[in-house]
Amino acid sequence: MSRIANAALRAKVMGAQDAAALIRSGMTLGLSGFTGSGYPKAVPLALAERIETAHGAGQPFRVRVWTGASTGPELDGALAKADGIEFRLPYNSDPVAREKINRGEMDYFDMHLSQVAPMAWQGFLGPLDMAVVEVSGIRPDGSLIPSSSIGNNKTWLDRADKVILEVNRWQSGELEGMHDIYYGTALPPNRVPIPLVKPQDRIGEPYLRCDPDKIVAIVETESPDRNLPYAPPDRTASAIAGHLIEFLRHEVARGRLPPSLLPLQSGVGNITNAVLSGLLDAPFDNLTAYTEVIQDGMIDLIDAGKLTLASATAFSVSPEAAAKLNADMARYRDRMILRPQEISNHPELVRRLGCIAMNGLIEADIYGNVNSTHIMGSRIQNGIGGSGDFARNAFVSIFMTPSTAKGGAISAIVPQASHVDHITQDVQVIVTEQGLADLRGLSPKQRARTIIANCAHPDYRPALEDYFRRALAGSYGQQSPCLPGEALSWHQHFVDTGSMRR
Ligand code: COA
Repeated sequence: MSRIANAALRAKVMGAQDAAALIRSGMTLGLSGFTGSGYPKAVPLALAERIETAHGAGQPFRVRVWTGASTGPELDGALAKADGIEFRLPYNSDPVAREKINRGEMDYFDMHLSQVAPMAWQGFLGPLDMAVVEVSGIRPDGSLIPSSSIGNNKTWLDRADKVILEVNRWQSGELEGMHDIYYGTALPPNRVPIPLVKPQDRIGEPYLRCDPDKIVAIVETESPDRNLPYAPPDRTASAIAGHLIEFLRHEVARGRLPPSLLPLQSGVGNITNAVLSGLLDAPFDNLTAYTEVIQDGMIDLIDAGKLTLASATAFSVSPEAAAKLNADMARYRDRMILRPQEISNHPELVRRLGCIAMNGLIEADIYGNVNSTHIMGSRIQNGIGGSGDFARNAFVSIFMTPSTAKGGAISAIVPQASHVDHITQDVQVIVTEQGLADLRGLSPKQRARTIIANCAHPDYRPALEDYFRRALAGSYGQQSPCLPGEALSWHQHFVDTGSMRR
């Protein structure tokens, strides 16, 4: 049965090829999609075919791509493979696009996820020609039932000159009612406080608005999201989770956190998911989450009655969890709210709610500067995502990582980060499987001693201690002692010995 309940809009249904034919080279596209959910799956594939045909005929064809965050192989993968993306923003985790970016063949603007929509409204990003947005249905009045992510869809639908919709029957019909789209944002000087004081507050409406005259095509699909499995927690992940949960217990015991903690924000990846799993057996109840993505661990916590509500902008779940959700969405709908990413990640709200931010990292230096994005300072892995939105504004900002990468060949704790996404002021706790460094209230030298002692792997601790000793003796200043030349050669060593991936 069709999910398009508006007769006038039903008349705009066409095939993906015909819809893709409406996209011209040079256009800027605002696409739905956030961490593999809710992205359009048919039109980008058809567009990639068109681009390949054009390139085969010697005609240039490239588009500018704006999304919510990472998408799936049918979008970023296919368009990047066709060499069809001239410029992209924001977060990307697609391996084909990553290679193009790192080879210098694609421009990439990595930005805080909360800032994409405001920056689009402020006009800094230029005009938006076409929105291509997946929805799960269209109501009789033409309003849109969102899909498994919201991301920047509200902004794309409002700002774009024209709109192509994909209506995906694979998405649960019971998603209707889960979303909360806030239409109260404005540009300065007309901004007002956002009226959300608890993660469970609904401040908007469940549907996306869209001017029907702008809709030039509707494509019906039945395609699953890119849902990837999570690795079961290994010893390293379990040890990290253990240290972190011990820290939270300690904070509750000291009266610095309430027994039900504060709203959790959990970043991407297996380690953060393992921490959520660890919370299943921890003595905290009535938890809430105010976060960017709902992962498997959160669904398990809901099932166990531990998590009362998760607010996010998207699902980021395994295929098994997606099947479970889709089979029982009406029940989960009361425990979950999906919002635009400018609201899920809004600094005002993260600060007001006092989120406990938990994010991964690539490397941290002994002073607590964190690199989340660049390997060897120049090669992008994914992007900053929402980590900056949460880390700077959280009640407590926690970063976690295994103490080594590449099978032990590289220390994640280094003398000086080769790239800095999060400055020391935004990094309050670092956790590895070795232990936890609580950096709150510590001077740079105290931080260095704590991080080396608690977080570095024993194989690298002597070298870090030796570096710090010599920096104390030979540094230009003594506030944050460092030997800049040597800090860089620390990284060079791994290139020279061939242990660094190219
Ligand atoms: N030096 C060199 N390579 C390193 C490294 C280091 N110090 N640390 C990690 N890597 C490599 C890994 O070996 C792996 O390489 P591979 O793909 O060839 O296997 C890759 O980087 C990813 O590492 P992995 O351990 O699988 O990462 P993860 O899934 O735990 O994610 C981040 C870690 C930092 C990449 C991830 O958390 C991220 O993208 N963060 C930024 C965005 C963010 O925090 N979003 C959440 C906000 S809501």
